[in-house]
Amino acid sequence: SRPGGVGQPRLGFDAVPAGRDDTIKVPAGYTARPFLPWGTPILGSMPAYMADGSNTGDEQAEQMGSHHDGIHFFPINGSSEHGILVMNHEYIDRNVIHAAGPSARPRPLDEARKEMNAHGIAIVEVQKGANGEWELLNNGLNRRLTAFTEMELAGPVRGSDFVRTAYSPAGTHTRGTLNNCGSGFTPWGTYLISEENWAGYFHLDASIDPVPRELARYSVTGWQNYHWYDVEDGGAPIDDAFTRFQTAITGADATEDFRNEPNNFGWIVEFDPYDPTSVPKKRTAMGRFAHEGVVPVPAVVGQPVVFYSGDDSANEYIYKYVSNANYAEGMTGDDLLDDGTLYVARFNDDGTGEWLALDFDDVDFQADMSESAIKFSSQADVLVNTRSAADMRGATPMDRPEWGAVNPNTNEVYFTLTNNSGRQYANRANPRVLNRTGHIIRWKEAGAPAATTFTWDIFVFGGRDVEHLKGYVPSTGQHLTEENYFASPDGLLYDESGILWIQTDMSGNQQAGLTADGDFGNNAMLAAIPETGEIKRFLVGPMDCEVTGVVLTPDHRTMFVNIQHPGDRSQPGNFTSNWPSEIPGDRPRSATVIITKDDGGVIGL
Ligand code: FEO
Ligand code: CA
Ligand code: CA
Ligand code: CA
Repeated sequence: SRPGGVGQPRLGFDAVPAGRDDTIKVPAGYTARPFLPWGTPILGSMPAYMADGSNTGDEQAEQMGSHHDGIHFFPINGSSEHGILVMNHEYIDRNVIHAAGPSARPRPLDEARKEMNAHGIAIVEVQKGANGEWELLNNGLNRRLTAFTEMELAGPVRGSDFVRTAYSPAGTHTRGTLNNCGSGFTPWGTYLISEENWAGYFHLDASIDPVPRELARYSVTGWQNYHWYDVEDGGAPIDDAFTRFQTAITGADATEDFRNEPNNFGWIVEFDPYDPTSVPKKRTAMGRFAHEGVVPVPAVVGQPVVFYSGDDSANEYIYKYVSNANYAEGMTGDDLLDDGTLYVARFNDDGTGEWLALDFDDVDFQADMSESAIKFSSQADVLVNTRSAADMRGATPMDRPEWGAVNPNTNEVYFTLTNNSGRQYANRANPRVLNRTGHIIRWKEAGAPAATTFTWDIFVFGGRDVEHLKGYVPSTGQHLTEENYFASPDGLLYDESGILWIQTDMSGNQQAGLTADGDFGNNAMLAAIPETGEIKRFLVGPMDCEVTGVVLTPDHRTMFVNIQHPGDRSQPGNFTSNWPSEIPGDRPRSATVIITKDDGGVIGL
């Protein structure tokens, strides 16, 4: 039976009011403690965090990165009090991580090195101490993956012409992972990294003309986030680990330059957190797009494994991966993630839906291609150009698919559609033009998780202004109230006790009440019990943060939540949040928050 006892579970706390304070708020009876903020030393020489921002690029590689996002807890020997926390560091704020903000270009090399080492993944052994407080251990399991870490390409794209570079002329290896947003994990105990807005890290040089669709369809342009290629080191030659971010034709063919470097990004990456020497593998069979995250359906021996992943960009799609092999104990990603079928979703207006195969050998795929101007020559071509293949098959353009979550008791799937303020043409699954506040869609597969048809409805619409919602009623009939109004849903977790945890990524203007949709306060996390319709605000974050990433220990008595980019309007020396220290003048630091119930009970109930 469920932790809720007889009958339906109920939320066992009073809703937290919305607000604009620079602190964490949780319900009465709960405690929230910041843990592992950006800059915390975790390995190697354990370099101390320098509060003035003066840590070097090499020191950053031995500390927690910035912009904590998706997170997962891997128990050690099944424990709920000892395990490995793995989390994403999505991006950086240059006004916060450098002592005086970024220098003029070309910048000192070490600024780029520090930024690249603040990206990636942190792997940290943690244990609940005798005093009941969680602490960091350092026994050889701790590790950082960064924009420099060597990774292997696996699946159908490995070795293809699309991924040959001067670094790996055979097209088998690459360096780093970028802009890792929502998390994922597998039934066999590995972590799945998703590469989201990687395109913005590459500068498209004019030598690439015409621009191939594998760059153009992903918005690799002349605009670039951080200019890591535009650095100087006292006149010394710059290593190609930096210059590769300038996507240009400089050699006789692709094995002599980095024209293909962006094709090494946009993948799901798997690694084993229990093995600190494991080489991460980019699982190309799962498609290339702006992967928000990746969510598994609970595995069943004798059936395929199934994962969902959203492409978080306006009018992009939701995907499903189904392994060709049936799951058996002892199988790993090498058995299950390199050989499978990638599907994309079509949401029909009558509440039904179809999964369309993105498989070069599929009869329907070939039939669509014969009638389309969009052509493919191989499965590697299909996968590198996943978005184009989905266009060709007639997938439904969605309002920015973010995280998904699967009800572990029913396999019903929930997906956040965060917003799409530019939408001009509605469809029933994305019914609001100028959708500024987002919604959560859900579906049931027609039978097993690998089914190719489903039925869907809308669980809830974001927004607190009933006028704004006029005419849009979710199938539950429920509008949001003072206890639970939110906008721009993003992170999701469906726990075994029946609670759907919903995290928000509202814009600064939405938080400040500067949009036509009303005043929402700081980003928040809500708890919902979809079976009863109960929804309550559980946590409100500090000033200008995003609340993103949540995991429970197996006993549900500790929850880890990530707080990303508090004070993201900061200027050098003028920090608009001082969280987590809450000392005036301190620079803001992304951090994990540990939430426990004061009576030691199950979180949420
Ligand atoms: Fe990194 Fe789609 O949020
Ligand atoms: Ca997100
Ligand atoms: Ca978001
Ligand atoms: Ca974010």
